[in-house]
Amino acid sequence: MQDILLLLAHPDLEHSRVHAALRKALSRDAGAGARWQLRDVYALYPDYCIDVAAEQAALQAARLVVWLHPLHWYGMPPLLKLWLDEVFAYGWAYGPGGTQLNGKDLWLVVSTGGTEASYRPDGHNRFFIDAFWPPYEQTAQLAGMRFLPPLVLHGAHHLAQAEIDAHVDTLVDHLQRWPDWPEIADLMPCIQGEAPEGERPPVADAGEAPRAEPIDEPATEAAR
Ligand SMILES: Cc1cc2nc3c(=O)[nH]c(=O)nc-3n(C[C@H](O)[C@H](O)[C@H](O)COP(=O)(O)O)c2cc1C
Repeated sequence: MQDILLLLAHPDLEHSRVHAALRKALSRDAGAGARWQLRDVYALYPDYCIDVAAEQAALQAARLVVWLHPLHWYGMPPLLKLWLDEVFAYGWAYGPGGTQLNGKDLWLVVSTGGTEASYRPDGHNRFFIDAFWPPYEQTAQLAGMRFLPPLVLHGAHHLAQAEIDAHVDTLVDHLQRWPDWPEIADLMPCIQGEAPEGERPPVADAGEAPRAEPIDEPATEAAR
């Protein structure tokens, strides 16, 4: 059963070591009988025109959703952010009637340029790496998804090939064993958070043009 959806987001795989290795291993193991489907979002959408229906269908078929990306400015690369903006739609993923992702697991697998020591109060990244996860965790909660402890590979630029290979093996091993991970045995299911109406722009009815607020144009010379 293909119950794992892997979303890989790297804007420049040609110059990647970590994600190129992940992509290679995960594509190789994604043959017949594999538990996962790999979607490389930068390869699928080089024009940034995301097929929302296809992405939502892939999400619906999954029980575990994995986001694989390099840390970029302490967050996700821009195409994955756009994917999130469009695919986790109001009334679908969250808000009134938005229960499509309820009960699924979300796992973040990231690499960082900064070393583990740099992600400390006395290091140049100043915060422990966990300080950067609340936006992800809260996103999961709003969608009713259980946020699993992230897998982080630090110091990506100075790793020996053996360390990258070990990271790939750890990931594949976890995918094969999910959900039988000792580290999540005690995690409670997620209770979906609320997004009250009025906190998002109104959704236009089909066929109704979005209403634009009138803009006060500065008066031109002729109009004056
Ligand atoms: C635009 C950009 C922003 C980055 N921001 C961060 C960052 O905020 N923190 C960090 O530790 N590394 C940062 N990096 C380094 C990447 O995380 C690193 O290059 C990547 O994890 C290496 O993985 P790869 O071999 O798959 O490319 C950044 C790199 C780029 C290109």
